[in-house]
Amino acid sequence: MSKTFKRTTVTSALPYANGPVHIGHLAGVYVPADIYVRYLRLKGRDVIFVCGSDEHGVPVTIRARKEGITVQEVVDRYHNLIKKSFSDFGISFDIYSRTTSATHHKLASDFFRKLYDDGKLVEQVSEQFYDEQTGRFLTDRNIRGECPRCHAPEAYGDQCEKCGATLSPEELINPYNAETGNPLVKKATKHWYLPLDKDQEWLEKWILQEHREWRSNVYGQCKSWLDGGLRPRAVTRDLDWGIPVPVEGADGKVLYVWFDAPIGYISNTKELCEARPELGSWETWWKDPETRLVHFIGKDNIVFHCIVFPAMLKAHGGYILPDNVPSNEFLNLEGNKISTSKNYAVWLNEYLEDMPGRQDELRYVLTANAPETKDNDFTWADYQARCNNELVAVYGNFVNRALQLTQKYYDGKVPACGVLNDYDRETLDEFRDVKGKLENLLENFRFRDAQKEAMNLARIGNKYIADCEPWKVVKTDPERVKTIINISLQLTANLAIAFEPFLPFSSERLRTMLAMDSFSWEDLGSTCLMPEGKLLPKPGLLFTKVEDEAIEAQVKKLEDTLKANAEAEYRAEPVKPVIPFEDFEKLDIRVGLVKACEKIKKSKKLLKFTLDDGSGKDRTILSGIAQWYEPERLVGKRVLFIANLAPRQMMGETSCGMILSAVNYNGDLSVTTTLDDVKGGSQVG
Ligand code: MF3
Ligand code: ZN
Repeated sequence: MSKTFKRTTVTSALPYANGPVHIGHLAGVYVPADIYVRYLRLKGRDVIFVCGSDEHGVPVTIRARKEGITVQEVVDRYHNLIKKSFSDFGISFDIYSRTTSATHHKLASDFFRKLYDDGKLVEQVSEQFYDEQTGRFLTDRNIRGECPRCHAPEAYGDQCEKCGATLSPEELINPYNAETGNPLVKKATKHWYLPLDKDQEWLEKWILQEHREWRSNVYGQCKSWLDGGLRPRAVTRDLDWGIPVPVEGADGKVLYVWFDAPIGYISNTKELCEARPELGSWETWWKDPETRLVHFIGKDNIVFHCIVFPAMLKAHGGYILPDNVPSNEFLNLEGNKISTSKNYAVWLNEYLEDMPGRQDELRYVLTANAPETKDNDFTWADYQARCNNELVAVYGNFVNRALQLTQKYYDGKVPACGVLNDYDRETLDEFRDVKGKLENLLENFRFRDAQKEAMNLARIGNKYIADCEPWKVVKTDPERVKTIINISLQLTANLAIAFEPFLPFSSERLRTMLAMDSFSWEDLGSTCLMPEGKLLPKPGLLFTKVEDEAIEAQVKKLEDTLKANAEAEYRAEPVKPVIPFEDFEKLDIRVGLVKACEKIKKSKKLLKFTLDDGSGKDRTILSGIAQWYEPERLVGKRVLFIANLAPRQMMGETSCGMILSAVNYNGDLSVTTTLDDVKGGSQVG
């Protein structure tokens, strides 16, 4: 399988232009793709890095209707925002275009037309749900109705969120339009299908036999799709936003977003090559068997990139197929799922406002914690720890020591390297094989381990300088110190190269501090990068500490979102069945004056109240609200209680009645009281 390639086309999933991008996107797709591309470029390989916004599909239309603006306005807004975020984070695309471009519309349309003309599509009429009042056919997600299994009233056409059942819209009882609430009818409509069942055989051979090297999560998902048997898939939709189906009599129909979006990789390449003639024809990047195609995606995109898109390319003919499809699992955030619709995320644009200049810190943490083999969790505590204990204390500290000592002892001039001792040689041996290790890991898409190796280089340097103690040796053996500093500076220059794919911003700062104007991957491992006598500028700090306050503010922001969501989702319990007035009269509700209130030993929940209930005798009531009140806070307050509830034994005490509390949306309890001063024992009714 070790075929040699002349060039590499790298794509990363086209993000939906229905919201800003967040750390989950960055960790899952764009940072790994960027590391890979930067590495290939450093090696001097021919590579293009292609991306753009995915601007069709239902989500953008929903967003537009919600916000009361046009779909074009939605995609314009988010396309620009997303594009800026990527560029701010140093994601080094050669092109970031969009699927609303004229080039793309034409190419996707022609692609469909060729499949159609060649008889590769199957035409089929089926009954779909239709809203007569809006004149629209509905997609599964836009249909709601009663769940046939658990009878929840608001199940979706594809799934019931209450019982988790996978559904088809046909199964829903009384289906309705999720947005308008209108009832739906069935109406016949014609669509075109890609007959994937006919691709079963070659796909099985191509993936299961010939691409065993794909990541196990990718291979596993493909296998389970293939084992389940492929079925024809519709590649058109009844929708008014998208690329019109280029066939007579297909008014009101557009290409399915998952049909046009991957073709966007090709259209964007075409646009790129037209703008940069030195890249040659776009076709070289997509049709020459000596080109290697690599798709970086998230796990929810696997079937489209490994099965559907290859089947489309093959049906069209002339195209190469992907060589690898590195896909990550998901990143969670402080233990919860990241959600665009629930606004629960760290948005890249907001991160940069709150943490200006800290792009590399985020890149570092996302790679160190990348969900390469399983879902992973991002926490701000981990972010802070990695920034302060690794970037500042290891990498930054080593660089700073080496540069400061050069200034202090040699006025910023690189000192000569003298005779090496055994320890020097050991140290240099240790870091010489970093290049090989890094290459092996990067070529196999193991970015997390690769970054660890780069950091290891800094650890070696840190240890070397700490062990050699040049600040002590300088008093007894100044010649020896020259060698120590020289070696440290060589190591520092190596770090600037090794980290460039991962941390491009700090790597550039470091190269400025080292006055390195040219550098190449091949130099990695060299001990001649910093020539004797070279004058270095005054250094700054490579990284600065992340303070507690900044972290606390971020954690609070997320907690506030969770709280706001819980509040928004809260619905009061349904009202209990109607009762006759006499039943109400059976309850004796009174005002009690709290004379004393204390915690009960052995119970975390209960408070013991002593009430003036107007009878002249103290009344004892136990209430499970210790979690919400310090007892002292309640003394002297008026509370409402039920006076004629049968006494109950609790924790060795007798409770005579019940204190009334309100249950807030989040489960918190709040004791009820009267607005005005009322005597203990007063009736409530
Ligand atoms: N927009 C899709 C998503 O965010 C990805 C599209 S990838 C492409 O899940 F291949 F279709 F471009
Ligand atoms: Zn259900």
